[in-house]
Amino acid sequence: TGFITLDPGYVNTGSCLSAITFMDGEKGILRYRGIPVEQLAEHSTFKETAYLLINGRLPNRTELTQFSINLNDNSLVHTDLKVFFQNFPRASHPMGILSAMVNALRSFYPSLGTSEEEINITMTRLLAKVRTMAAMSYKISRGHELVLPRPDLTYCENFLNMMFDTPVKPYEIKKEVVRALRVFWILHADHEQNCSTSSVRMVGSARVNLYAAISAGIAALWGPLHGGANQAVIEMLTDVHTSGGNCRKAVERAKDKNDPFRLPGFGHRVYKTYDPRAKIIKKICDELLESMQISDPLLDIARELEEIALKDPYFIDHNLYPNVDFYSGIVLRAIGIPTNMFTVMFALGRLPGWIAQWKESTDDPHWKISRPRQIYTGNQQCDYIPLHAR
Ligand code: CMC
Repeated sequence: TGFITLDPGYVNTGSCLSAITFMDGEKGILRYRGIPVEQLAEHSTFKETAYLLINGRLPNRTELTQFSINLNDNSLVHTDLKVFFQNFPRASHPMGILSAMVNALRSFYPSLGTSEEEINITMTRLLAKVRTMAAMSYKISRGHELVLPRPDLTYCENFLNMMFDTPVKPYEIKKEVVRALRVFWILHADHEQNCSTSSVRMVGSARVNLYAAISAGIAALWGPLHGGANQAVIEMLTDVHTSGGNCRKAVERAKDKNDPFRLPGFGHRVYKTYDPRAKIIKKICDELLESMQISDPLLDIARELEEIALKDPYFIDHNLYPNVDFYSGIVLRAIGIPTNMFTVMFALGRLPGWIAQWKESTDDPHWKISRPRQIYTGNQQCDYIPLHAR
Protein backbone atom coordinates (compact mmCIF):
# COMPACT_ATOMS: atom_id res chain seq x y z
CA THR A 1 0.00 0.00 0.00
CA GLY A 2 3.02 2.26 0.22
CA PHE A 3 3.82 5.15 2.48
CA ILE A 4 0.90 7.34 3.57
CA THR A 5 1.43 10.94 4.66
CA LEU A 6 -0.91 12.15 7.38
CA ASP A 7 -2.18 15.71 6.87
CA PRO A 8 -5.34 16.36 8.93
CA GLY A 9 -7.40 19.18 7.44
CA TYR A 10 -5.13 19.07 4.33
CA VAL A 11 -3.02 21.92 5.66
CA ASN A 12 -0.11 21.05 3.35
CA THR A 13 -1.77 19.00 0.65
CA GLY A 14 -2.33 20.38 -2.82
CA SER A 15 -5.37 18.57 -4.21
CA CYS A 16 -5.23 19.85 -7.80
CA LEU A 17 -3.54 22.07 -10.33
CA SER A 18 -5.61 25.19 -10.85
CA ALA A 19 -5.36 28.33 -12.99
CA ILE A 20 -8.37 30.09 -11.47
CA THR A 21 -7.50 31.86 -8.23
CA PHE A 22 -4.19 32.92 -6.75
CA MET A 23 -3.78 33.58 -3.03
CA ASP A 24 -0.75 34.67 -1.07
CA GLY A 25 -1.63 34.31 2.59
CA GLU A 26 1.51 36.04 3.87
CA LYS A 27 1.10 39.14 1.73
CA GLY A 28 -2.71 39.20 1.67
CA ILE A 29 -3.05 38.86 -2.11
CA LEU A 30 -6.10 37.52 -3.94
CA ARG A 31 -6.41 37.43 -7.72
CA TYR A 32 -8.99 35.89 -10.03
CA ARG A 33 -7.41 34.70 -13.28
CA GLY A 34 -4.52 37.03 -12.46
CA ILE A 35 -6.61 40.16 -11.85
CA PRO A 36 -6.35 41.61 -8.31
CA VAL A 37 -9.66 41.40 -6.49
CA GLU A 38 -9.32 45.09 -5.61
CA GLN A 39 -9.49 46.01 -9.31
CA LEU A 40 -12.50 43.77 -9.90
CA ALA A 41 -14.29 45.20 -6.87
CA GLU A 42 -13.66 48.70 -8.19
CA HIS A 43 -14.39 48.26 -11.88
CA SER A 44 -16.12 44.99 -12.69
CA THR A 45 -19.66 43.69 -12.34
CA PHE A 46 -20.55 40.41 -10.68
CA LYS A 47 -21.75 39.02 -14.01
CA GLU A 48 -18.47 39.88 -15.70
CA THR A 49 -16.46 38.43 -12.81
CA ALA A 50 -18.50 35.23 -13.03
CA TYR A 51 -17.72 35.03 -16.75
CA LEU A 52 -14.03 35.66 -16.03
CA LEU A 53 -13.82 32.88 -13.46
CA ILE A 54 -15.70 30.33 -15.54
CA ASN A 55 -14.20 31.11 -18.95
CA GLY A 56 -10.72 32.19 -17.96
CA ARG A 57 -10.81 35.72 -19.39
CA LEU A 58 -12.94 38.85 -19.39
CA PRO A 59 -15.74 38.80 -21.97
CA ASN A 60 -15.80 41.17 -24.93
CA ARG A 61 -18.96 43.22 -25.50
CA THR A 62 -20.67 40.58 -27.66
CA GLU A 63 -19.86 37.78 -25.23
CA LEU A 64 -21.10 39.79 -22.28
CA THR A 65 -24.34 40.64 -24.07
CA GLN A 66 -24.87 36.99 -24.95
CA PHE A 67 -24.12 35.94 -21.36
CA SER A 68 -26.70 38.48 -20.10
CA ILE A 69 -29.28 37.16 -22.55
CA ASN A 70 -28.62 33.57 -21.45
CA LEU A 71 -28.90 34.51 -17.77
CA ASN A 72 -32.12 36.34 -18.44
CA ASP A 73 -33.59 33.49 -20.50
CA ASN A 74 -32.86 31.02 -17.71
CA SER A 75 -33.92 33.10 -14.75
CA LEU A 76 -37.43 31.73 -14.25
CA VAL A 77 -37.92 28.66 -12.10
CA HIS A 78 -40.42 25.87 -12.53
CA THR A 79 -43.58 26.72 -10.58
CA ASP A 80 -43.62 23.22 -9.08
CA LEU A 81 -40.53 24.24 -7.10
CA LYS A 82 -42.77 26.62 -5.17
CA VAL A 83 -44.67 23.68 -3.71
CA PHE A 84 -41.38 22.12 -2.71
CA PHE A 85 -40.43 25.30 -0.77
CA GLN A 86 -43.81 25.57 0.90
CA ASN A 87 -43.61 22.07 2.31
CA PHE A 88 -40.39 22.58 4.24
CA PRO A 89 -41.03 23.08 7.96
CA ARG A 90 -41.29 26.84 8.68
CA ALA A 91 -38.21 26.88 10.89
CA SER A 92 -35.92 25.27 8.30
CA HIS A 93 -32.59 26.98 7.79
CA PRO A 94 -32.39 28.58 4.32
CA MET A 95 -29.05 26.84 3.66
CA GLY A 96 -30.62 23.42 4.21
CA ILE A 97 -33.41 24.37 1.83
CA LEU A 98 -31.00 25.78 -0.76
CA SER A 99 -28.81 22.69 -0.76
CA ALA A 100 -31.86 20.43 -1.21
CA MET A 101 -33.34 22.67 -3.91
CA VAL A 102 -30.16 22.82 -5.96
CA ASN A 103 -29.93 19.04 -5.82
CA ALA A 104 -33.59 18.90 -6.91
CA LEU A 105 -32.81 20.98 -10.02
CA ARG A 106 -31.45 17.79 -11.59
CA SER A 107 -34.99 16.37 -11.52
CA PHE A 108 -36.57 19.53 -12.90
CA TYR A 109 -33.98 20.01 -15.64
CA PRO A 110 -32.79 16.48 -16.37
CA SER A 111 -31.05 17.10 -19.69
CA LEU A 112 -27.50 18.00 -18.76
CA GLY A 113 -25.89 17.12 -22.07
CA THR A 114 -22.27 16.51 -22.84
CA SER A 115 -21.46 19.08 -25.52
CA GLU A 116 -19.75 22.32 -24.52
CA GLU A 117 -22.89 24.28 -25.41
CA GLU A 118 -25.15 22.07 -23.28
CA ILE A 119 -22.78 22.25 -20.30
CA ASN A 120 -22.69 26.05 -20.67
CA ILE A 121 -26.49 26.12 -20.50
CA THR A 122 -26.47 24.07 -17.28
CA MET A 123 -23.89 26.42 -15.73
CA THR A 124 -25.84 29.52 -16.78
CA ARG A 125 -29.08 27.97 -15.59
CA LEU A 126 -27.58 27.47 -12.15
CA LEU A 127 -26.32 31.05 -11.91
CA ALA A 128 -29.66 32.44 -13.02
CA LYS A 129 -32.04 30.17 -11.15
CA VAL A 130 -30.32 29.90 -7.77
CA ARG A 131 -30.58 33.68 -7.44
CA THR A 132 -34.30 33.52 -8.24
CA MET A 133 -34.76 30.60 -5.84
CA ALA A 134 -33.03 32.44 -2.98
CA ALA A 135 -35.35 35.45 -3.38
CA MET A 136 -38.32 33.11 -3.77
CA SER A 137 -37.54 31.34 -0.49
CA TYR A 138 -37.46 34.71 1.27
CA LYS A 139 -40.82 35.73 -0.17
CA ILE A 140 -42.36 32.39 0.81
CA SER A 141 -40.94 32.66 4.33
CA ARG A 142 -42.73 36.04 4.61
CA GLY A 143 -45.92 34.64 3.10
CA HIS A 144 -45.71 37.15 0.25
CA GLU A 145 -46.38 36.86 -3.46
CA LEU A 146 -43.33 36.06 -5.58
CA VAL A 147 -41.68 38.79 -7.62
CA LEU A 148 -40.40 37.61 -11.00
CA PRO A 149 -37.04 38.56 -12.54
CA ARG A 150 -37.04 41.47 -15.00
CA PRO A 151 -34.99 41.68 -18.18
CA ASP A 152 -34.25 45.39 -17.76
CA LEU A 153 -32.40 44.99 -14.45
CA THR A 154 -28.79 43.96 -13.78
CA TYR A 155 -27.96 40.73 -11.96
CA CYS A 156 -27.66 42.49 -8.59
CA GLU A 157 -30.65 44.82 -9.13
CA ASN A 158 -32.82 41.90 -10.09
CA PHE A 159 -32.00 40.04 -6.92
CA LEU A 160 -32.76 43.07 -4.73
CA ASN A 161 -35.98 43.70 -6.58
CA MET A 162 -37.13 40.07 -6.30
CA MET A 163 -36.38 40.18 -2.58
CA PHE A 164 -37.87 43.49 -1.60
CA ASP A 165 -40.39 44.70 -4.14
CA THR A 166 -44.01 44.47 -2.97
CA PRO A 167 -47.27 45.58 -4.62
CA VAL A 168 -47.83 48.09 -1.83
CA LYS A 169 -44.28 49.45 -1.70
CA PRO A 170 -42.29 49.31 -4.92
CA TYR A 171 -38.61 48.71 -4.21
CA GLU A 172 -36.46 51.73 -4.83
CA ILE A 173 -33.16 50.56 -6.30
CA LYS A 174 -30.40 52.65 -4.73
CA LYS A 175 -27.02 52.75 -6.42
CA GLU A 176 -25.02 52.53 -3.18
CA VAL A 177 -26.94 49.37 -2.19
CA VAL A 178 -26.37 47.80 -5.61
CA ARG A 179 -22.68 48.71 -5.36
CA ALA A 180 -22.39 47.11 -1.91
CA LEU A 181 -24.04 43.90 -3.09
CA ARG A 182 -21.96 43.83 -6.28
CA VAL A 183 -18.72 44.16 -4.28
CA PHE A 184 -19.89 41.65 -1.65
CA TRP A 185 -20.55 39.06 -4.37
CA ILE A 186 -17.33 39.78 -6.28
CA LEU A 187 -15.30 39.34 -3.08
CA HIS A 188 -16.95 35.99 -2.44
CA ALA A 189 -16.75 34.71 -6.01
CA ASP A 190 -13.84 32.30 -5.52
CA HIS A 191 -11.22 31.39 -2.94
CA GLU A 192 -9.28 28.45 -4.36
CA GLN A 193 -9.50 25.10 -2.52
CA ASN A 194 -11.53 26.10 0.56
CA CYS A 195 -13.80 23.55 2.25
CA SER A 196 -16.90 24.04 0.07
CA THR A 197 -14.96 24.22 -3.19
CA SER A 198 -13.01 21.12 -2.27
CA SER A 199 -16.36 19.46 -1.53
CA VAL A 200 -17.65 20.43 -4.99
CA ARG A 201 -14.50 18.99 -6.56
CA MET A 202 -14.50 15.87 -4.41
CA VAL A 203 -18.16 15.03 -4.93
CA GLY A 204 -17.83 16.01 -8.59
CA SER A 205 -14.90 13.62 -8.99
CA ALA A 206 -17.33 10.72 -8.58
CA ARG A 207 -18.83 12.09 -11.85
CA VAL A 208 -22.12 13.20 -10.29
CA ASN A 209 -24.03 15.93 -12.08
CA LEU A 210 -23.12 19.59 -11.51
CA TYR A 211 -26.24 20.24 -9.41
CA ALA A 212 -25.36 17.48 -6.94
CA ALA A 213 -21.76 18.70 -6.68
CA ILE A 214 -22.86 22.29 -6.00
CA SER A 215 -25.43 21.06 -3.50
CA ALA A 216 -22.55 19.42 -1.57
CA GLY A 217 -20.65 22.73 -1.69
CA ILE A 218 -23.65 24.55 -0.21
CA ALA A 219 -23.88 22.02 2.61
CA ALA A 220 -20.19 22.54 3.45
CA LEU A 221 -20.49 26.33 3.27
CA TRP A 222 -23.27 26.23 5.85
CA GLY A 223 -20.80 25.42 8.64
CA PRO A 224 -19.94 28.19 11.14
CA LEU A 225 -16.20 27.72 10.54
CA HIS A 226 -16.79 28.47 6.86
CA GLY A 227 -19.58 30.57 5.27
CA GLY A 228 -21.79 30.29 8.33
CA ALA A 229 -19.34 32.64 10.07
CA ASN A 230 -21.10 35.74 8.68
CA GLN A 231 -24.26 34.76 10.56
CA ALA A 232 -22.21 33.79 13.64
CA VAL A 233 -20.51 37.22 13.65
CA ILE A 234 -23.80 39.12 13.77
CA GLU A 235 -25.12 36.79 16.47
CA MET A 236 -21.94 37.35 18.49
CA LEU A 237 -22.03 41.14 18.00
CA THR A 238 -25.71 41.16 19.01
CA ASP A 239 -24.86 39.13 22.12
CA VAL A 240 -22.12 41.57 23.08
CA HIS A 241 -24.47 44.49 22.45
CA THR A 242 -27.40 43.12 24.43
CA SER A 243 -25.21 42.05 27.34
CA GLY A 244 -23.81 45.53 27.88
CA GLY A 245 -21.22 45.92 25.10
CA ASN A 246 -18.20 44.34 26.82
CA CYS A 247 -15.92 43.62 23.86
CA ARG A 248 -12.93 42.64 25.95
CA LYS A 249 -14.94 39.78 27.46
CA ALA A 250 -15.54 38.28 23.99
CA VAL A 251 -11.83 38.55 23.18
CA GLU A 252 -10.87 36.92 26.50
CA ARG A 253 -13.36 34.10 25.88
CA ALA A 254 -11.88 33.46 22.44
CA LYS A 255 -8.44 33.03 24.03
CA ASP A 256 -9.62 30.61 26.70
CA LYS A 257 -8.55 27.13 25.64
CA ASN A 258 -11.14 25.55 27.95
CA ASP A 259 -13.90 27.35 26.07
CA PRO A 260 -14.73 26.13 22.55
CA PHE A 261 -15.75 29.69 21.59
CA ARG A 262 -13.66 31.32 18.87
CA LEU A 263 -14.09 34.85 17.70
CA PRO A 264 -16.16 34.46 14.53
CA GLY A 265 -14.90 36.56 11.63
CA PHE A 266 -11.29 36.23 12.80
CA GLY A 267 -8.55 33.94 11.59
CA HIS A 268 -8.01 32.13 8.34
CA ARG A 269 -6.29 28.97 7.18
CA VAL A 270 -4.35 30.79 4.46
CA TYR A 271 -4.24 34.48 5.40
CA LYS A 272 -1.74 35.20 8.12
CA THR A 273 -2.30 38.90 7.61
CA TYR A 274 -5.36 41.10 7.03
CA ASP A 275 -7.73 39.36 4.62
CA PRO A 276 -7.72 41.59 1.48
CA ARG A 277 -11.46 41.01 1.13
CA ALA A 278 -12.05 42.24 4.70
CA LYS A 279 -10.24 45.50 3.90
CA ILE A 280 -12.55 46.15 0.95
CA ILE A 281 -15.78 45.12 2.67
CA LYS A 282 -14.92 47.22 5.73
CA LYS A 283 -14.65 50.30 3.49
CA ILE A 284 -17.88 49.42 1.69
CA CYS A 285 -19.56 48.97 5.07
CA ASP A 286 -18.50 52.45 6.24
CA GLU A 287 -19.57 54.07 2.98
CA LEU A 288 -22.90 52.25 2.76
CA LEU A 289 -23.95 53.06 6.31
CA GLU A 290 -22.93 56.66 5.88
CA SER A 291 -24.79 57.13 2.61
CA MET A 292 -27.90 55.42 4.01
CA GLN A 293 -27.53 57.41 7.22
CA ILE A 294 -27.71 54.25 9.28
CA SER A 295 -26.13 54.18 12.68
CA ASP A 296 -25.71 50.52 13.57
CA PRO A 297 -24.48 49.86 17.13
CA LEU A 298 -23.10 46.52 15.90
CA LEU A 299 -20.64 48.40 13.68
CA ASP A 300 -19.27 50.27 16.70
CA ILE A 301 -18.90 46.98 18.56
CA ALA A 302 -17.17 45.36 15.58
CA ARG A 303 -14.71 48.25 15.32
CA GLU A 304 -13.94 48.14 19.03
CA LEU A 305 -13.56 44.36 19.02
CA GLU A 306 -11.17 44.57 16.09
CA GLU A 307 -9.11 47.22 17.81
CA ILE A 308 -8.83 45.21 21.03
CA ALA A 309 -8.09 41.94 19.23
CA LEU A 310 -5.42 43.39 16.95
CA LYS A 311 -3.51 44.70 19.99
CA ASP A 312 -3.86 41.49 21.96
CA PRO A 313 -0.68 39.36 22.18
CA TYR A 314 -2.66 36.13 21.64
CA PHE A 315 -4.18 37.43 18.39
CA ILE A 316 -0.80 38.85 17.32
CA ASP A 317 1.08 35.60 18.05
CA HIS A 318 -1.55 33.53 16.28
CA ASN A 319 -1.72 35.90 13.27
CA LEU A 320 -5.45 36.36 13.74
CA TYR A 321 -6.94 39.18 11.68
CA PRO A 322 -10.48 39.95 10.57
CA ASN A 323 -11.61 37.85 7.64
CA VAL A 324 -14.24 38.70 5.03
CA ASP A 325 -17.07 37.67 7.36
CA PHE A 326 -16.28 40.17 10.07
CA TYR A 327 -17.86 43.22 8.43
CA SER A 328 -19.95 41.62 5.68
CA GLY A 329 -22.92 40.87 7.96
CA ILE A 330 -23.27 44.55 8.82
CA VAL A 331 -23.43 45.33 5.09
CA LEU A 332 -26.08 42.66 4.56
CA ARG A 333 -28.11 43.93 7.51
CA ALA A 334 -28.06 47.45 6.07
CA ILE A 335 -29.30 46.08 2.74
CA GLY A 336 -32.19 44.42 4.59
CA ILE A 337 -31.14 40.78 4.29
CA PRO A 338 -32.37 38.70 7.26
CA THR A 339 -29.58 37.16 9.34
CA ASN A 340 -30.49 33.56 8.57
CA MET A 341 -30.00 34.33 4.86
CA PHE A 342 -26.45 35.69 5.19
CA THR A 343 -24.83 32.40 4.25
CA VAL A 344 -27.18 32.07 1.28
CA MET A 345 -25.78 35.42 0.13
CA PHE A 346 -22.27 33.97 0.42
CA ALA A 347 -23.40 30.92 -1.57
CA LEU A 348 -24.82 33.11 -4.37
CA GLY A 349 -21.48 34.90 -4.53
CA ARG A 350 -19.45 31.68 -4.51
CA LEU A 351 -21.49 30.00 -7.27
CA PRO A 352 -19.25 31.16 -10.16
CA GLY A 353 -16.19 29.89 -8.29
CA TRP A 354 -17.71 26.49 -7.62
CA ILE A 355 -18.82 26.22 -11.25
CA ALA A 356 -15.40 27.32 -12.54
CA GLN A 357 -13.60 24.82 -10.29
CA TRP A 358 -15.96 22.00 -11.28
CA LYS A 359 -15.46 22.88 -14.96
CA GLU A 360 -11.70 22.97 -14.53
CA SER A 361 -11.72 19.51 -12.99
CA THR A 362 -13.99 18.08 -15.71
CA ASP A 363 -11.67 19.53 -18.38
CA ASP A 364 -8.65 17.82 -16.82
CA PRO A 365 -7.70 14.80 -18.95
CA HIS A 366 -6.18 13.19 -15.84
CA TRP A 367 -9.26 13.76 -13.63
CA LYS A 368 -9.20 11.12 -10.92
CA ILE A 369 -11.80 10.26 -8.34
CA SER A 370 -10.83 11.81 -4.98
CA ARG A 371 -9.96 9.03 -2.65
CA PRO A 372 -7.70 9.98 0.29
CA ARG A 373 -6.18 7.26 2.43
CA GLN A 374 -5.93 7.05 6.23
CA ILE A 375 -3.67 5.79 8.98
CA TYR A 376 -5.61 3.01 10.64
CA THR A 377 -5.71 3.22 14.47
CA GLY A 378 -8.33 0.57 15.28
CA ASN A 379 -8.09 -3.01 16.56
CA GLN A 380 -5.83 -5.50 14.94
CA GLN A 381 -7.62 -8.68 13.93
CA CYS A 382 -10.04 -9.95 16.59
CA ASP A 383 -12.66 -12.69 16.51
CA TYR A 384 -16.40 -12.36 16.23
CA ILE A 385 -18.12 -13.07 19.59
CA PRO A 386 -21.64 -14.53 19.34
CA LEU A 387 -24.38 -12.42 20.99
CA HIS A 388 -24.97 -14.88 23.89
CA ALA A 389 -21.29 -14.74 24.83
CA ARG A 390 -20.95 -10.90 24.95
N1 CMC B 1 -10.54 32.96 17.78
C1 CMC B 1 -9.66 32.49 18.68
N2 CMC B 1 -8.64 31.66 18.39
C2 CMC B 1 -8.50 31.29 17.12
C3 CMC B 1 -9.38 31.74 16.11
C4 CMC B 1 -10.43 32.61 16.49
N3 CMC B 1 -11.29 33.08 15.58
N4 CMC B 1 -9.01 31.21 14.92
C5 CMC B 1 -7.94 30.43 15.17
N5 CMC B 1 -7.62 30.50 16.48
C6 CMC B 1 -6.49 29.84 17.13
C7 CMC B 1 -6.74 28.37 17.36
O1 CMC B 1 -7.37 28.14 18.59
C8 CMC B 1 -5.35 27.81 17.28
O2 CMC B 1 -4.71 28.10 18.50
P1 CMC B 1 -3.55 27.13 19.09
O3 CMC B 1 -2.52 27.00 18.02
O4 CMC B 1 -3.06 27.88 20.31
O5 CMC B 1 -4.23 25.84 19.42
C9 CMC B 1 -4.68 28.67 16.21
O6 CMC B 1 -5.39 29.92 16.24
C10 CMC B 1 -4.74 28.11 14.81
O7 CMC B 1 -6.09 27.78 14.53
P2 CMC B 1 -6.52 26.53 13.68
O8 CMC B 1 -7.86 26.08 14.13
O9 CMC B 1 -5.43 25.53 13.66
O10 CMC B 1 -6.60 27.19 12.24
P3 CMC B 1 -7.36 26.61 11.01
O11 CMC B 1 -6.62 27.06 9.83
O12 CMC B 1 -7.61 25.16 11.15
O13 CMC B 1 -8.80 27.34 11.10
C11 CMC B 1 -10.50 28.94 10.85
C12 CMC B 1 -9.13 28.46 10.37
C13 CMC B 1 -11.01 30.01 9.88
C14 CMC B 1 -11.50 27.77 10.81
C15 CMC B 1 -10.39 29.52 12.28
O14 CMC B 1 -9.55 30.65 12.27
C16 CMC B 1 -11.74 29.87 12.89
O15 CMC B 1 -12.38 29.01 13.46
N6 CMC B 1 -12.18 31.16 12.76
C17 CMC B 1 -13.49 31.56 13.20
C18 CMC B 1 -14.55 31.16 12.15
C19 CMC B 1 -14.48 32.04 10.93
O16 CMC B 1 -14.41 33.27 11.01
N7 CMC B 1 -14.55 31.40 9.75
C20 CMC B 1 -14.58 32.12 8.46
C21 CMC B 1 -13.34 31.91 7.66
S1 CMC B 1 -13.20 33.09 6.31
C22 CMC B 1 -14.56 32.76 5.27
C23 CMC B 1 -14.39 31.50 4.52
O17 CMC B 1 -13.71 31.53 3.49
O18 CMC B 1 -14.94 30.49 4.93
